[in-house]
Amino acid sequence: MQNLVNSVTDAVERAVAALNVDQLHQEYWDQNEFLVIKQFLPRAFVEATLVPQAQDVKTELNRNYIPGHKKGGSVSYYTVQEKAPRFLDLYRSESFKAFLSRLTEVKLTFCPDNDPHSCALYYYTEPGDHIGFHYDTSYYKGARYTILMGLVDRSTHCKLVCELFKDHPTKQPRHLELVTEPGDMVIFNGDKLWHAVTPLGEGEERIALTMEYVTNPEMNPVKRIYSNLKDSIAYFGLKTVFKRAFSGLNRLS
Ligand SMILES: [Fe+2]
Repeated sequence: MQNLVNSVTDAVERAVAALNVDQLHQEYWDQNEFLVIKQFLPRAFVEATLVPQAQDVKTELNRNYIPGHKKGGSVSYYTVQEKAPRFLDLYRSESFKAFLSRLTEVKLTFCPDNDPHSCALYYYTEPGDHIGFHYDTSYYKGARYTILMGLVDRSTHCKLVCELFKDHPTKQPRHLELVTEPGDMVIFNGDKLWHAVTPLGEGEERIALTMEYVTNPEMNPVKRIYSNLKDSIAYFGLKTVFKRAFSGLNRLS
């Protein structure tokens, strides 16, 4: 187990060291704070070390259905911490965070421990699973960045659809449809990218890792309640979200 843990940390460090950061930085800003890195981690490595943990926690899946907007399953940061900790070796990698900070030109920090989205898993496992167009709006006092990594992509229907430059004052919107193969990474500023995931077909499966970093981990308490309610309904369930939220409140009092 220790070797595998080290191997994730080492693989992330090697992956970061191999990046052409100046070129990626240019691309990220040219695309209004959006970037795709194909095969950030090699597919075979992801399938050997990370996918088995994502498959193991399928039993912990919380399924949601919001008519007209979203259908799918999620596993929260709390479950990842307890039962799929290899993902945290990527999320908490200092070299990875330093790379993201260089890319975004801000000093990024981890989300507070009571944010179930910090490092979570999204599952598209039943026909029609999808999410409609949205921004990953930041309820924090600063900006929020989303990093997605493909884990399983046995689908021809289920794609990440992005509308770059939507609401941009001068640029024309640009439409992209992306397949996120295991190890492919997508990085964006949550307030700037209008995106969706198209419905899964019969007999298909798609699993993605989502990680979140912020510039300021503080959140107005009213916004925290709103954010928790949204996460309960759309993602992780009431019990999961509020268990940690209340323990957070207890720690503060
Ligand atoms: Fe999103």
